[in-house]
Amino acid sequence: MIPVTMHSDQIVSAHARQILDSRGRPTVEAEVILAGGATGRACAPSGASTGRHEAHELRDADPSSFQGRGVRRAVAAVREYIAPALKNRPALDQGECDAVMRELDGSPQLTRLGGNAVLAVSLAVCRAAAAHRGVPLYAHIAELAGSVPSMPLPMTNILSGGAHASRGMDIQDFLVIPVGARSYSQALEMIARVRAEAARLMAERGLPVLLADEGGLSPGFADPREALGLMLDSFGAAGLRAGEDAAIALDIAASELRSSDGYQLARLGRRLSSAEMAGYVRDLVASYPAIASVEDPLDQDDWETWRALTTELTTGLAAIQVVGDDLFATNPGRIVRGIRAGAANAALIKPNQNGTLSGTLEAMAVARRAGYALIVSARSGETEDSFIADLAVGTGAGQIKIGSLRAPNGSPSTTSYSGSRSRFQIASTAGERSRDASPRAAATPDTALTSRTRRLNDVLHRNPARIRQLFRSPGGQQHPGRRPEGRPHASLQLPVGPMPNLQVPDHRRCG
Ligand code: PGA
Ligand code: ZN
Repeated sequence: MIPVTMHSDQIVSAHARQILDSRGRPTVEAEVILAGGATGRACAPSGASTGRHEAHELRDADPSSFQGRGVRRAVAAVREYIAPALKNRPALDQGECDAVMRELDGSPQLTRLGGNAVLAVSLAVCRAAAAHRGVPLYAHIAELAGSVPSMPLPMTNILSGGAHASRGMDIQDFLVIPVGARSYSQALEMIARVRAEAARLMAERGLPVLLADEGGLSPGFADPREALGLMLDSFGAAGLRAGEDAAIALDIAASELRSSDGYQLARLGRRLSSAEMAGYVRDLVASYPAIASVEDPLDQDDWETWRALTTELTTGLAAIQVVGDDLFATNPGRIVRGIRAGAANAALIKPNQNGTLSGTLEAMAVARRAGYALIVSARSGETEDSFIADLAVGTGAGQIKIGSLRAPNGSPSTTSYSGSRSRFQIASTAGERSRDASPRAAATPDTALTSRTRRLNDVLHRNPARIRQLFRSPGGQQHPGRRPEGRPHASLQLPVGPMPNLQVPDHRRCG
C-alpha cells in the first residue's frame, strides 16, 4: 500500500552493487525503486582513453582487490549518501534528482561520491520514471529533452589501436559510417559486410585477427595509411563505394599521444609539434576523401590549434565533421568555450563524462543550439546496459558511435548493438510492415527522420555538395542510381513498442 501522502513516482529506495564490465573490471550497477512499484536499473560504463575533464570515476585503490579498480566505495556512496538524499524525491523530476546528487557531492567533477555512482543512479531514476509512466525509455527521454525522436546513423569500429589495442597503432579508432544506408537494418548489414571483409583480408594477408577492447580488429600497422588502405579495401570487397556508400571516421584520441614535448606517434616513429600534428591530420584528410569525420585530432587542452584546424577542415569543398570528445567531455561549459573558440563542429556525448543525465541533456542542448552535430557514444568498457541507444533515439541526436559487431563477451558492441538492434531493428522493420512492428508503426510519420537528416545536413558540412554526397538530403538532389525508388530513408523510422527490460545475467555479477 502506498501511504496517501506519497506520490507513486516518489523514490522509496536506491541500491547499488559492484558488477564487472566488458574488460572484466568492476563498475557500478544501481537500482531505484518507486512508491508505485516501478523500478529502474542502470550501469556505469568506463573509458580507457579517459579525458582529464571528465566526471571522476571513484575506485577503491585497494591493490588486494581487482588491482585497485574495485568500486565498493562508490557502491557505499549510493547506500550511505545518495539513497537517503533521494528518498521521497519524484523520479519524474529528473532535474531535481540530479541536482540533489550534485549538491550532495559539491565538487565539479563529482570526486566525493564518484561520477560512476551518480551516473548509475541518475540513469536508473530515468528508467524507473519511464517504467512508472509505462512509456518506452526513448520516449521518456524525448520528453525530458524536449526533442523529436529519430533514428541515428551509426559509426562503428573496424580497426582499433591506441589504448584499446595495446597501442599497436597510434590512431585509436578506424570506423565505418554507412552513409548510403536507406534503413538502420541496411546500415547494420553494410557494417557487418565491411567487418567480415576486413577480417577476411587480414587473415589472407597473414595479419593477426585479434580483437581489441571494443571488438575492432588490431592489425598493428606502424603507419595509419596502411590501416586506411585496409579500410578502403574492405569497403571494396564488401561491394561498397568509398565516400558514397561507406565513409571513414577516425578517432585519433590525440590526448593519449600528447606528452610534455609534443605529440608522440610512437608506431610511426615521429614526434610532432601542435602545428605539425594539425598538418599531419590535414594531410590524411586530404589524401583520403572517404574520411568524413575526425574525432579528437588534437589534445583536450590544445584550444588554439583546435580552432585553426577546425577552420581548415570545415570550410571548402572537402569540409568534414570535426568531433570533440576529450575536448568537451560532455561538459556544457567546455562546449560553450569550444563554440566561442570555433573548435570542432560536433560533440561526442558520453553520459559518464558528465555524471548525470540532466547534465548530459544540457550539454546536448548547448551544442545543438550552436549548430554542432551530436554523436551519442559508448565507452570502451561497457556493460549490458543499452541506455545510450534510447538516448540517441530519444534526443534525435542524429548519430551513434558504438563498438564493433564482433566483440569480447559483453563489450560495447554486444551491449550497444544488442540494445540498438532490438530497438532499432524493430523500428527499421516497421517501415517494411514486419510482423514485429506494432500497428502504431505504420502511422509513424517520417518528419522526425527528415528533420534529423536535414539538421545533419545543415550542421555538419556547410558545403551542400559534400552534404548531399555524405548524407543524401531527402527531398534534395540525389545521386543518380542511389535511391531509385521509395521514400528516402523510408524505413529509418521511430522505434516502436515497449522496450525490453535491462537484463544483467547473473554470471556477470560479482558483488
Ligand atoms: P574510451 O574510448 O571509452 O576509452 O574513452 C572511446 C573514445 O575515445 O571515443
Ligand atoms: Zn574518442
